[in-house]
Amino acid sequence: MTHPPKRRCVLVCQYRSCLRNHSAEVLAAFQASVPAGVFASGSECMGQCASGATVRVMPDNLWYCRVEPKDVAAIVEQHLCADQPIESLLHPRFHPPAESL
Ligand code: FES
Repeated sequence: MTHPPKRRCVLVCQYRSCLRNHSAEVLAAFQASVPAGVFASGSECMGQCASGATVRVMPDNLWYCRVEPKDVAAIVEQHLCADQPIESLLHPRFHPPAESL
């Protein structure tokens, strides 16, 4: 039997640069598909404008960059439901790849 999804909040930037990179569609996709106990909300600029759409998952404090609507299903299934963040989409500024440490 699997554990119920952890309670989380998914923040999706809804400011200028991210909106140009389809963050409204990214937010809508999260709101339509997050599991029970997970809340998806728009946010103001999170200071990562050059790499939007910016998504931050709390309380994990994990940042995703350049998220596109097509990425949402994988984030929901792997991160939010199975606790396996998608390393290829994590923001390298906050989560440097292991080999560059
Ligand atoms: S506009 Fe989205 S992080 Fe700044």
